[in-house]
Amino acid sequence: AELSPFATELFVDFSASENKIAMEAALASVYAKLGREYDMVIGGQPIKTTGKIVSVNPANPSQVVGTHQRAGAEHVETAIASAHRAFASWSKRPVSERVQFLLQAAELIRERKFEFCAWLTYEVGKNWAEADADVAECIDFLEFYAREALRLNEAKTPIQYPGEKNQLKYIPLGVGAVIPPWNFPFAIMAGMTAAAIVTGNTVILKPSVDASTIAAIFYELLQEIGLPDGVVNFCPGEGPEFGSEVVAHPKTRFIAFTGSKKVGLEIHESAAKTRAGQIWIKRTVLEMGGKDSIIVDRDCDIEAAVDGVAASAFGFNGQKCSACSRVIVDAAIYDVFCDRLVERVEAIKQGDPAKNFYAGPVISPLAYKRVLDYIEIGKGEGRLLTGGAAVETAEKGYFIAPTVIADVSPTARIAQEEIFGPVLAVIKSQSFDEALEIANNTEYGLTGAVYSNSREHLERAREEFFVGNLYFNRKCTGAMVGAHPFGGFNMSGTDSKAGGPDYLLLFTQAKSIADKV
Ligand code: SER
Repeated sequence: AELSPFATELFVDFSASENKIAMEAALASVYAKLGREYDMVIGGQPIKTTGKIVSVNPANPSQVVGTHQRAGAEHVETAIASAHRAFASWSKRPVSERVQFLLQAAELIRERKFEFCAWLTYEVGKNWAEADADVAECIDFLEFYAREALRLNEAKTPIQYPGEKNQLKYIPLGVGAVIPPWNFPFAIMAGMTAAAIVTGNTVILKPSVDASTIAAIFYELLQEIGLPDGVVNFCPGEGPEFGSEVVAHPKTRFIAFTGSKKVGLEIHESAAKTRAGQIWIKRTVLEMGGKDSIIVDRDCDIEAAVDGVAASAFGFNGQKCSACSRVIVDAAIYDVFCDRLVERVEAIKQGDPAKNFYAGPVISPLAYKRVLDYIEIGKGEGRLLTGGAAVETAEKGYFIAPTVIADVSPTARIAQEEIFGPVLAVIKSQSFDEALEIANNTEYGLTGAVYSNSREHLERAREEFFVGNLYFNRKCTGAMVGAHPFGGFNMSGTDSKAGGPDYLLLFTQAKSIADKV
């Protein structure tokens, strides 16, 4: 049957009592499943290791969300061999059959939406709406890439050469490593995996150590829908112990990674090396960090700008590569904007995400320390307007108050380095020219937004604001699949544009065939 045109999944309205009740029921039922142990699975074979990875609730670190096996260098050969075995048949399955797996997965996730939301709440500290956005984006990636794979399968050469039948066929690359982040541990994990397998590749999926459980639950769902063994090999592990070994292996054909600049560059470098027995140039799809700016122009709607900046900076505690971490405000409205922003940020309620507080904890002790260190640096680089400290809780969660630091120089460390937490630097600009110049002065180029009522200024930004995802008069987070293909410039990565019409090309190679008639 013909598929309906792609449409994004609607968000859940948690103000409706039936949805609130359903979410609370899901939180209770998932609560009863916390602390289970999950297998590593290579070629359909469950494996247990001596070393374990323990994923805990960042709002209550004594609560174990899931215990996982710990893949090491000794599992690399087996995992790659299994993925290669599976590739032989999977790559030959008709696209229409591979597509069915994505559609079935999307259907089951839609049915169990609240359950997946609950896992995200416990494992990474998302409030209900943030968890729902992650689940909705996951469904979107599955539905979108399913349709894109069918479209790609119909690709034609631009012309037919006289006397020949010309074909352009997009064939898979081979075995790839999929290395997702913990901050969109469902959508990006499943999205990169889905793009790889729907185009006929097989993968070694190494989830983040901070979010292995949601990946394990997704893997169980893939088993439930009967995805053949070895198409996805589920290998939780640490980057340095396992991920880097898979990247380096001569039989790895591609790496799809989303995470930090540091690790992305290490992968890039390692993948560029040709090792004994290697017969290809490895492909890398790298989505890295951001130091994203919102420009607030003198004639904008200040209320809208305050809301958009607060949502972009403090949604999921700023733990998004798309988060606004620097707001560049015109001198004419600087003081008013700062006052309103502080009011808005101080109204943010912080607490247990399971109880749907807007702001939860940061992900881990490491993140907690990094963010608090940056706050101390920031206090020396500007004027603390609000926040600026950890928030103690009885459960010893990793809570940090939403922090705004004003009068920051465009070249200060907190204006240049990715903090990945609830810290916003406010920078004053004297003109729109200067604002654009400041916005472009980082090594990143992921997202950006402009609040302005001047069409001329918006048009200048369209040309001169150098980011992969630019937004006018709205927040700079929350890219929608299909509408906002996502990925950035410079040190933000390879601009792979997840959720866009070019994405699947990254997982394929084109074969041109001429048949003389
Ligand atoms: N795609 C997400 C956003 O736009 C970030 O990964 O916020």
